[in-house]
Amino acid sequence: MAKRRATYLCQECGAVYNRWMGKCEACGAWNSIVEEVGGDASASLPAALRSPRSKGRVFALEGLEGESREPPRTPSGIAELDRVTGGGFVRGSVILIGGDPGIGKSTLLMQASAALANAGRRVAYISGEEAVGQVRLRAERMGLAGSPVELAAQTNVEDIIATLSEGAVPALVVIDSIQTMWTDTVESAPGTVTQVRASAQHLIRYAKTSGAAVILVGHVTKDGQIAGPRVVEHMVDAVASFEGDSAHHFRILRAVKNRFGPTDEIGVFEMTGKGLAEVANPSALFLEGRDTAAPGTAVFAGMEGTRPLLVEIQALVAPTALGTPRRAVVGWDPARLSMVVAVLEAHAGLKLGMHDIYLNVAGGMRVSEPACDLAAAAALVSSLSGAALPADSVYFGELGLSGAVRPVSQAPTRMKEAAKLGFSTAVIPALRGEADGGTPLRSNVVGHITELVAQIAA
Ligand code: TYD
Ligand code: MG
Repeated sequence: MAKRRATYLCQECGAVYNRWMGKCEACGAWNSIVEEVGGDASASLPAALRSPRSKGRVFALEGLEGESREPPRTPSGIAELDRVTGGGFVRGSVILIGGDPGIGKSTLLMQASAALANAGRRVAYISGEEAVGQVRLRAERMGLAGSPVELAAQTNVEDIIATLSEGAVPALVVIDSIQTMWTDTVESAPGTVTQVRASAQHLIRYAKTSGAAVILVGHVTKDGQIAGPRVVEHMVDAVASFEGDSAHHFRILRAVKNRFGPTDEIGVFEMTGKGLAEVANPSALFLEGRDTAAPGTAVFAGMEGTRPLLVEIQALVAPTALGTPRRAVVGWDPARLSMVVAVLEAHAGLKLGMHDIYLNVAGGMRVSEPACDLAAAAALVSSLSGAALPADSVYFGELGLSGAVRPVSQAPTRMKEAAKLGFSTAVIPALRGEADGGTPLRSNVVGHITELVAQIAA
């Protein structure tokens, strides 16, 4: 028998080496390379792919025209979850849901399972982390004990697939979590990249052949990667991350990849004593407890996918006590803060070089839009000058390096949301032919950063 060569896999990114190294050359992670027996990249492939046949089979190629259908979907009954999946679970698709431990993944998926089961669909919830009794206890606490969800505490993928293949095809199978699963086909320990990848492959094949929708739960490492399952991300149909801050009650489910729907959509939930509650009006939640009289806060009218979302941007600018000024950002891109600060210094004559600057998106929300530039600039200028911004104003607009305020997309939607929440003025760039959507909001057009600074200082 040929001696099996050991392979070394990076547990962060899945790169394969033939010897151990302290640092992964592919992703730069230290101490992440582990020897895996049978961890040969091809070992987890189906047998048909391993040894190329001498002569291939000829198949017919098709054109783009022809019959197309929307994929059949099963709505979960939880509107915020359906928004993220694009209208429900697609038959035969696999979704990976990642998130920090304790964020509420099991809670959310138990609620979705119960909702579907209550609607008369077959749902299986396979927990590899908790005993059946524990899962039951949680369901009881959430008032879901009466739902006909089929529970099991199992970790062997072959056993799970064999069990699920009996009887009707489940509408939904939840695997909580993929890191606890193992398959007989590879010898590595559960949780290693090889096991995670091989187990996911089997479960994906099960989903495709049976038509069941499968949700894989994945844990996230401290640096924000879905540990190991990063190698699974490209294999599944959709990836969503469940985010939140342990200091706050709300949780956000964000679509990162979706073959059957839009990405950038978010679902907003609030953790209560009885599980997760949907938040239909997140803007109101994020603006709760706003101190309108304090300088340094501006309301940003943002977009998350198709939904407008108003958040408060807080800035604190204070003379530095140390030699090097501190710059700290929570919830926004630090590189964009540096850019906004540079533009304020270069074009509006602000002296920020000897000031500490802190920027925070209130409520623990994370904003990634460049449209937030104008709100951040307004908050910074307000904090520096000590003048509070008008309480009835919202801000949005992208800042160019020349100091010009550039238009952003979906202005009417942003303004309508602001009007709905009682704001009366929008401080915005000149809109590209877009009418302001007939909103009762007054537009305060600023074409250049100097105009904004002049307004706040006046
Ligand atoms: P859980 O779903 O177990 O997290 P994950 O599967 O992502 O690791 O959620 C655990 C946390 O949620 C735990 O700290 C308690 C809290 N929780 C509530 O606040 N209310 C509830 O009704 C439930 C079920 C959990
Ligand atoms: Mg869990």
